[in-house]
Amino acid sequence: MTLLLTWPDTDPTTELLRTEDPAAIEAELKALGVRFERWDLVPLPDAPTAEDILAAYAPQVARVTEAEGYTLVDAMGLVPGAPAETAAAARAKFLAEHTHADDEDRFFAQGSGVFYLHADGKVHAVLCEPGDLISVPASTTHWFDMGTSPHFQAIRFFHDTEGWVGEFTGDPLAAAFPDFDTITRSR
Ligand SMILES: [Fe+2]
Repeated sequence: MTLLLTWPDTDPTTELLRTEDPAAIEAELKALGVRFERWDLVPLPDAPTAEDILAAYAPQVARVTEAEGYTLVDAMGLVPGAPAETAAAARAKFLAEHTHADDEDRFFAQGSGVFYLHADGKVHAVLCEPGDLISVPASTTHWFDMGTSPHFQAIRFFHDTEGWVGEFTGDPLAAAFPDFDTITRSR
């Protein structure tokens, strides 16, 4: 189940909210300008390629692309068994607080990851699970943790044909909050 946790941005030890209620999660995120949807899962072959994932969800992808005006769609992820250095490097890329000039729109076809949104004086952590679509609006301060044993396959939507471009804030805040491994263990 998708999980939403929030803390004051000054106090990672005090949980303000912990909910797995999809309607509550959607409402909390909507207040931050974040689109959140759940899609029915479509069967995928074993070890699906990016093409398999994009083909399986083609109607849903077409709907979002048209509604939001995206110009680039791809699928990427990591599967268990990746070399430790590969996993650590992939994790590190997104782990510090950053923003984008574009929306960061992701659909989780398999596996999970945590998006942390730093907004409204709080940190909002969304543990995304298969079937979740989350769109972090452009300029929203955030980070992403795929954990120490990454496992996810996600469809990504971009308005920018350069794909993922991050602007790091230099704020060490992210390191103070519970990480993916801690959050998944806390359920
Ligand atoms: Fe990002």
